[in-house]
Amino acid sequence: MWGSPIVTDPVLQQCVHPECGRRYGLTEVVFRCRACGGLLDVRYDWEKLKAPSSLSFFERRWRRGSSSREQALDVSGVWRFRELLPFARPEHVITLGEGQTLLQRADGLAPHLGLSAGRLMLQYEGLNPSGSFKDNGMTAAFTVARMLGRRRVACASTGNTGASMAMYAAAAGGGPPMQAIVLIGSGKIACGKLAQTLDYGALTLQIEGDFDACLRRVVEAADRLNLYLMNSMNPFRLEGQKAIMYRVLEGCAWEPPDWIVVPGGNLGNCSAFGKAFEELHTLGLVARVPRLAVINAAGANALYKLYHNRGIRWNGGHWRRDAVDAYYAECDATGRRARTLASAIEIGRPVNLSKALRALELMNGVVRQVSDEEILDHRALVGRFGFGCEPASAAAVAGLHQLVREQIIGRDERVVCVLTGHQLKDAETIVGYHAGVGARESAGTGATPRAAGPWSNAPRSVPDRLEDIIEVLESAGPENPA
Ligand code: F0G
Repeated sequence: MWGSPIVTDPVLQQCVHPECGRRYGLTEVVFRCRACGGLLDVRYDWEKLKAPSSLSFFERRWRRGSSSREQALDVSGVWRFRELLPFARPEHVITLGEGQTLLQRADGLAPHLGLSAGRLMLQYEGLNPSGSFKDNGMTAAFTVARMLGRRRVACASTGNTGASMAMYAAAAGGGPPMQAIVLIGSGKIACGKLAQTLDYGALTLQIEGDFDACLRRVVEAADRLNLYLMNSMNPFRLEGQKAIMYRVLEGCAWEPPDWIVVPGGNLGNCSAFGKAFEELHTLGLVARVPRLAVINAAGANALYKLYHNRGIRWNGGHWRRDAVDAYYAECDATGRRARTLASAIEIGRPVNLSKALRALELMNGVVRQVSDEEILDHRALVGRFGFGCEPASAAAVAGLHQLVREQIIGRDERVVCVLTGHQLKDAETIVGYHAGVGARESAGTGATPRAAGPWSNAPRSVPDRLEDIIEVLESAGPENPA
């Protein structure tokens, strides 16, 4: 079974494990290597595909007169970089104008995290059509589904993948809708995400179990029923998510920042970022690769534990799978399950672990964990300076703060923090924070619940009398807002 069948197309899929490296054709539907069980990458023969010789090529795209189909692709923040993910013909592309997102200087927030003004930038992926970074990957994977003629797509989700997939299936690029099947864990999904998933008409199955159980089941069901799997183990998802880094570079005038900071859940995003930079570096399109910081929630910290406590490293592809299996077996034996208020990243067995380890090696990365309390406080802090994000995204901001305190990140380094999901995805957690409603759990951290955080901004009850209203307004002027 071992060895690589001769697949010589300019685009192919290949097992990530160097000692296996088995190749599969572009249109083969395979999510785990049939020889060794490893994840797959999409690989390109850049000689044949002729990548641009400089990233400024993509600036010319805005000005060049082009046909209307090409214009639609140029509007997408993913497909305007299509030469760097050249697996699809333009007529197959399903796009909903994803990736119109901003890299924005965050000078107000920077000093609160110990950074100098002008050094912090936020990549606001909540501005995507479904409100999270997932749309970057879905446009790519749906394009493949169309290429393959698939009409039933499925995923397990903590919320955002399901919402994004359901949206693309319902719209299907103007063609007849596809059927979306979403598996969610019981009580594990923020209201905004569930609302989207239901509204877009997805067949939504709530499983008695957590995300990890849902993922196991959806893989089995997809296999049995020939459903097209849309989780991030689908390598085309990650091809689309590379574009987040292209836009970051575009926002930095093509000069890579010093750091990319991102939350880690199923570890698809950080893996995609690593691949983006690996390719850009190989192609000579960037001279330098930024460092990567992946931030776990302390209650869902498999990567942190494996990286720090068990010393697991990519190690040129020879990472210790037995030690990882032993860790998971221990979690099972002791009943340890992922638990965090940042429900998007409540994941115990990140499926992209091997690719994430590879990205950490390539990008000289670090891994940190942050408590739920830190996540909630930093989420509110982001809001104070005119951005918004959901709790999982704020894990990155809290992790960045920790790394600056540790002096791993210098105050004058240029840092990009990826805000992965929109503020309104999880409004109930936000209102809970501000209004101090209910005791906040501090899952996995041992911290005691608090009534209010330092950035809480509870609504005040005031009688319907002008004098009372004036009194409150006078006691809280702009110089004394809270
Ligand atoms: N941030 C948000 C808002 C997410 O929804 C997710 C993952 C992550 C971060 C973690 O990203 O998996 O690439 O490390 N959400 C998935 C879902 C798992 O089902 O919506 P990752």
